[in-house]
Amino acid sequence: MHHFDYRGGELYCEDVSVRELATAHGTPLYIYSTATLRRHFRVLSEAFAEQNCLIAYAMKANSNMAVLTTLANMGSGADVVSGGEMRRAITAGIPANKIVFSGVGKTAIEIRDALQAGIHQFNVESEPELKRISALAEEMGKTAPIAFRINPHVEAGGHANISTGGAEHKFGIAWHEAKAMYERAQKMPGISVVGVDVHIGSQITDLTPMRLAFTKVVGLVRELRDMGVPISRIDLGGGLGIPYKSGETPASPAEYAEMVRDVVGDLDVQLILEPGRMIAGNAGIFVSRVEYIKERDEREFAILDAAMNDLMRPALYQAVHELLPVTRAEDRQSRTYDIVGPVCESTDRFAKGYSVQELRETDLVAFMSAGAYGAVMSNQYNTRPLCAEVLVNGDQAELVRRAPTFDEMIANERVPEWLKS
Ligand code: LLP
Repeated sequence: MHHFDYRGGELYCEDVSVRELATAHGTPLYIYSTATLRRHFRVLSEAFAEQNCLIAYAMKANSNMAVLTTLANMGSGADVVSGGEMRRAITAGIPANKIVFSGVGKTAIEIRDALQAGIHQFNVESEPELKRISALAEEMGKTAPIAFRINPHVEAGGHANISTGGAEHKFGIAWHEAKAMYERAQKMPGISVVGVDVHIGSQITDLTPMRLAFTKVVGLVRELRDMGVPISRIDLGGGLGIPYKSGETPASPAEYAEMVRDVVGDLDVQLILEPGRMIAGNAGIFVSRVEYIKERDEREFAILDAAMNDLMRPALYQAVHELLPVTRAEDRQSRTYDIVGPVCESTDRFAKGYSVQELRETDLVAFMSAGAYGAVMSNQYNTRPLCAEVLVNGDQAELVRRAPTFDEMIANERVPEWLKS
């Protein structure tokens, strides 16, 4: 469910015309809907209302400060994977005790900052990392609450590149080493063992692999408790898929919650969830303008002013984002295009053989479901500025990130003196 709809043939985000936003702020442009963000957060919180549950929004999906503040105001926590994300979360008003820190390569500086801030939990992914956290915590006179991210050896996810739970992936502690690791961790200074963490992949639309992984985790928690390891939290990671095309029906948050309840049973634990895409994905669109229609070798290319650097998912994961005309024209038939950008790479293609209302130069088009892993993954390849972002709330709209100027883009670069004479 989202709040992007046609009114009289014009696409709207809540009560604001997408065309007006594109005219005011230029394209390419990311547009986010507050009502959709709030709705997604609320649906998930309500599904888990009866559990002791922390929703730690996986801000890697969309870490714009306005998006974060919207969620912080609703009581969201954050799953962070870098010192930069932690800084954003705290600046957005997310209390440190609602922050969990994930990721395979936490640096000493990041660990110190997190200990200083007093975060809720470190999700530890290896023994060397545990040792580093222990040493730093001891040095600072702090105690680090830790969970091990266990690799349950369950494959899942919408694409091979976003699956993380298999033996060949870099993520987590091997299943068969988990218990020994917990025993060692318990004896280490500066460490307080609190939880078990798992995250098997992203854009998971069928709950079966999650059920399998979570069942293994619950079994492990019981065994650990029998060994005297006081596990009080289970972090189930993120991964719940969203509909990218109309008609797709991935498992709903309610079905997910039901499955979790069934698997966790009466185990007395705090649940931690790290949803990213489920919160932000369908709360954003990416708007672009058609520059040219090019016909060649019996193909038609719609060349946009947006490119792979702005929205990387199609190039990286062959993801297809539904493309809608911002203005519907009754008198135009559907035609088939290769939808491409101006970047000099063959991978700069959003879709191949895509059928959409006939497109003409200067038309505006909207890529749907672009709120997660869109703007955050963009880059400045070809010296293309990062896109502006707008947040809509009812009939209000505000630029929440402006595009940098070319001068700003090159301001941090230096030409050495020896090149100047
Ligand atoms: N927790 C951890 C430890 C993660 O690694 C991730 C995502 C999440 C939570 C959030 O997962 P979500 O609920 O969003 O599925 N760029 C890719 C997705 C990469 C996901 C990385 N980890 C894409 O555009 O599909």
